This record gives sequence, C-alpha cells and structure tokens, in this order.
Amino acid sequence: MRAIRGVVLAGGSGSRLHPLTKTTNKHLLPVGDVPMVYHPVRRLVEAGIVDVLVVTGVHHVGAVVQQLGSGEEFGCRFTYRVQDRAGGIAEALGLAEDFASGGPVAVVLGDNVFDAPLRPYLDAWALSGKRSMILLKRVPDLERFGVARFEEGVLAEVVEKPPSPPSPFAVTGIYFYEADVYAIVKGLQPSPRGELEISEVNTAYIRAGEMHWAELTGEWTDAGTLESYRRANRLVGHR
Ligand code: DAU
Repeated sequence: MRAIRGVVLAGGSGSRLHPLTKTTNKHLLPVGDVPMVYHPVRRLVEAGIVDVLVVTGVHHVGAVVQQLGSGEEFGCRFTYRVQDRAGGIAEALGLAEDFASGGPVAVVLGDNVFDAPLRPYLDAWALSGKRSMILLKRVPDLERFGVARFEEGVLAEVVEKPPSPPSPFAVTGIYFYEADVYAIVKGLQPSPRGELEISEVNTAYIRAGEMHWAELTGEWTDAGTLESYRRANRLVGHR
C-alpha cells in the first residue's frame, strides 16, 4: 500500500475564541488533559501515518513547535510550515505540496476532535479508486459548516455555511486527496470572506466524479467556538 502523509492545519486567527486566543494559538488550548491539536495528530498516527506536516500561523509558531517537538512523543515525524495570514483552509493545504512530494495526503483540521479510527476510511478510499474523500456527519448547527448537497441520492456539491442547509450532513474537517489537489487550489479565487475555501476544492472533485464519501461514526465536533470548544471537552472527558 502507498504511504499516505498527514497534514494538520493549525493556522487561522482563532477570533471566535477571543479572549482565550489573545496570547496563544487556539490549537494549544486544553481539550481534556492535552492540547487540542494532540487529538487530530493522534488519530493520524494511530492510522499508521508516520510523516505529519503541521501548518500554523506566524504568531505562535514557536509555541506550537515547542509543544509538539519532533514527533517522537507521538511516534511520528513532524515537518512545520508557516502560513503568513489566515487565507483559508485551502491556502494552508497548498503549503503541503512540497512535503507531499507527489503522494496522497490525509488532512485533518487542528480543531477537529473525534473518536473514530481513520484507518478503515483510508482503506475504503483506496478501494474506491477516487482521487479524494470526505467524511460527513449529522450535526444540529449545519449553518456553521460546509454542507453536502445531494441530487437523487448522489453527492452533487458542498455548500459553505448555507443559510438553509440542503441536507443533514456537515462536511467534517477530515479530507483525503491525491496530489492533483494543489492544481485545484492554485485555480481558486478568494471567497467573499477573503479565504480560499476547501468546500470549492471538494466541489471541484465532486463535479469531476472523483469524490468518495462516507458518514463518520462515533463522536465528532470542531472546537472553534466557545460552545463547540466546551462540547469537545465534554466529548473527551469520558475517555
Ligand atoms: O470543522 C469543519 C468545517 O471547517 C467545515 O465544515 C467547513 O467546510 C470548513 O470551511 C471549516 O469551517 P470553519 O469556518 O469552522 O473553519 P475555521 O476558519 O474555523 O478553520 C478551521 C481550522 O482550519 C482551524 O482550526 C485552523 C485551520 N485553518 C483555518 C484557516 C482559515 C488554517 O490552518 N488556516 C486558515 O487560514
């Protein structure tokens, strides 16, 4: 089986968690008894991924490196890249091109906390023969997320933060891509919120017939708002 590299995106401004994020990176805030970013890193390593790129912003890169180190503690090797400004998830992913050196990547947003192992999904992706995969989850507050739209049961599009959600399925921050993703990222224009949107990348794959998807089992939440940050802490509390 081909080696898949991991990418953890831990940039962004963390503005929705102010003042908690005034002097620290959101992903270093505690979730359970470890910093938030440990959760996605552990899921990647548990899936057998050894090389992990961490993308973070300029302001707290020192603290992020100090916290995560070489990867020895996790059983992986970290590479770090800096995103100069919060230009969007797709922009941050674009920084992984050299690191991935032509191979596939498993991308996890640094504020996503979940308990399902990723290996079965990576295996399903390999079997599908598609060039990308997303994991969907039913959530009550859909308008905060990218939401899947289906046409006659077939995935047709991902709509970012829709006022009236077209399905009950949010797109989680767990994405698998082949190396053609960087060409797609380079073709994007900033959205009205000034970011390169990962939902546009996913929609491009869907339209090309190259997107596999599955429903993520177990618990999942992001931790980017006060409410979801509390939910993430409750979720890991019982582990
Ligand atoms: O959590 C899943 C959701 O994440 C998806 O459903 C949405 O489609 C996707 O756009 C994203 O939505 P958010 O609005 O919650 O994304 P946020 O700006 O909070 O960024 C999530 C993580 O991505 C953040 O923890 C760090 C990373 N990030 C974000 C930006 C904007 C970066 O590394 N660089 C960035 O410039």
